[in-house]
Amino acid sequence: METTTIEALLQEQRVFPPSEEFVRQANVSDPSIYEEASRDYEAFWAKCAEILDWYERWHTVLEWNPPYAKWFIGGKLNACYNCVDRHVKTWRRNKAALIWEGEPGEERVLTYGDLHREVQKFANVLKSLGVRKGDRVCIYMPMVPEVVIAMLACARIGAPHSVVFGGFSAESLTDRINDAQAKLLITADGGWRRGNIVPLKRNADDALRNAPSIEKVIVFQRIGGDYMVPMQEGRDLWWHELMANAPLTCEPEPMDSEDLLYLLYTSGSTGKPKGIMHTTGGYLVGVAITTKWVFDIKDEDIYWCTADVGWVTGHSYIVYGPLAIGATALMYEGAPDYPDRDRFWAIVEKYRVNILYTAPTAIRAFMKWGEQYPQRHDLSSLRLLGTVGEPINPEAWMWYHEHIGGGRCPIVDTWWQTETGMILITPLPGITATKPGSATKPFPGVFPDILDEQGNPTPPGRGGYLVLTRPWPAMTRGLYGDPERFQQIYWSKYPGIYFTGDGAKRDEDGYFWLLGRVDDVINVAGHRLSTMEIESALVDHPAVAEAAVIGKHHEIKGQAVAAFVIIKEGYRADEQLREELKQHVAAKIGAIARPDDVIFTADLPKTRSGKIMRRLLRDIAEGRALGDTTTLADPAVVQALKEKYEGQEE
Ligand code: PRX
Repeated sequence: METTTIEALLQEQRVFPPSEEFVRQANVSDPSIYEEASRDYEAFWAKCAEILDWYERWHTVLEWNPPYAKWFIGGKLNACYNCVDRHVKTWRRNKAALIWEGEPGEERVLTYGDLHREVQKFANVLKSLGVRKGDRVCIYMPMVPEVVIAMLACARIGAPHSVVFGGFSAESLTDRINDAQAKLLITADGGWRRGNIVPLKRNADDALRNAPSIEKVIVFQRIGGDYMVPMQEGRDLWWHELMANAPLTCEPEPMDSEDLLYLLYTSGSTGKPKGIMHTTGGYLVGVAITTKWVFDIKDEDIYWCTADVGWVTGHSYIVYGPLAIGATALMYEGAPDYPDRDRFWAIVEKYRVNILYTAPTAIRAFMKWGEQYPQRHDLSSLRLLGTVGEPINPEAWMWYHEHIGGGRCPIVDTWWQTETGMILITPLPGITATKPGSATKPFPGVFPDILDEQGNPTPPGRGGYLVLTRPWPAMTRGLYGDPERFQQIYWSKYPGIYFTGDGAKRDEDGYFWLLGRVDDVINVAGHRLSTMEIESALVDHPAVAEAAVIGKHHEIKGQAVAAFVIIKEGYRADEQLREELKQHVAAKIGAIARPDDVIFTADLPKTRSGKIMRRLLRDIAEGRALGDTTTLADPAVVQALKEKYEGQEE
């Protein structure tokens, strides 16, 4: 596979306009929507808000006091009501809301009617355990329908949820529970991943040793059989036992538009993960309208987003967006290569999936595995493809287009973030001509720009910082409990302007090309990690004196973790220690953060003021000639390190 350079990306000449056939049936096909939204974006978003059912209409569309926006002020609604109850009142009562496939192959379908019943019962369970409006509930579960039921039940009673990805370690779970001061934890005995059991309950037990705010734990039995988990008397309760006697009806709580819907923790360039806050009205408007327009979902469609619910993509585009518009969403529990590398395509064929939304890292893996896997299956049901999470290289885009989309499906490359809540830069598949590798244009009513260091917009072709100059409905309302950090991270580089942390360029046609992070955040297989957090995990090991972590280019994962480590006297820099350190990081944060490379070194390249020069470490790890080393305190350090690295690689 070739590696794409930024220069090659910008010379991309291929353009794919939507087919006439696609345009004819598209949910939006009139380009005047862009002008309409630019002319009066508040009026545009107010019109979009009609997509929801409100108990009380808002009196003011937007109040903007940077960095804080309030949307649809005075409006009252309930997210669960919008995702479930209102559909049950129509013919959709017996429509599939969720189609689920477990990794071992079980199948379940929950109609909107089923979801309505289960969510009400579970909401009553939560209430019976003392959960009240405003209490935080932590969810640490595998990809089973119950994770959606749990989220919606929280939304129903106004208890903000904080979902923690099941791949995170006990310690990561502890940090998130403590930051949110969550009162209740919902977990499962385990989940399936590549034929192995992910020991969720065991991790939860470890996590709870240092998380005193949790009063009760609800445990869903996913594995069962011989797989036993200890249940702590008075604290741990089985999901199925609680549900057996739960009353059938629970009225949704009318929430203020600006009431907190959920927290979701994500990595930043400094400190511990931050609790991104999303509120009810603006968030739900944003995810509902983007789901409808970007994915062009019709009532008959089967839509599959392959993300885990533990990430924002799962929140916005498995749960809240699709269910708000009454769509049928497919959920799959396990890995794409289990039992074989054609699992995704077997699922597409079996359920006749029409819309598939996945990540470039998955596409690059499929590409490497070869066309024979998709070729074993009938993929003719597919009508639209999407990608998210990291820049997609044109080779991967073309492969997706040809081998999965059969050359006929538009591809929507969607740029957004946990903080943005909703897709912000994306094609509209019935309007936008796509270019491989470009996320194309802002969604109507969204105002990105690319600025240089001084805050001036960059001319076409020149890289700069991607920013948003006006608010949008689903934007985060801040970091839980840390307003200063919110101000400092996102709003201090350019006052009143949202700084994304991404680099980007625009071409002559005004298309956006994302160039990756410009801060110390790295993106490994579409997962956002903080280099600082991995460094802290490393120095926590008794053998480590100092560590510097970088993201190094990786053919499939986009980036991989490379750690440069100085060890303390008395320890041996050998293979055993290297493995131990990798394992230590996995145990502290989660397997996704496990370094690919650990390079032992006697010194790290630092500036005269003591700052580690990561740029040089990246040059070393990626085998490039060393850049400018004149600002280094001791240029010999880096040369020695380069030689050593090259030696260790062999
Ligand atoms: O660097 C961008 C990258 O993912 C970051 C956001 O990560 P997270 O909050 O975990 O959310 C991921 C799913 C929305 C961004 O700052 N990113 C996301 N989508 C794209 C992307 N980079 C390039 N192209 C994309 N389509």
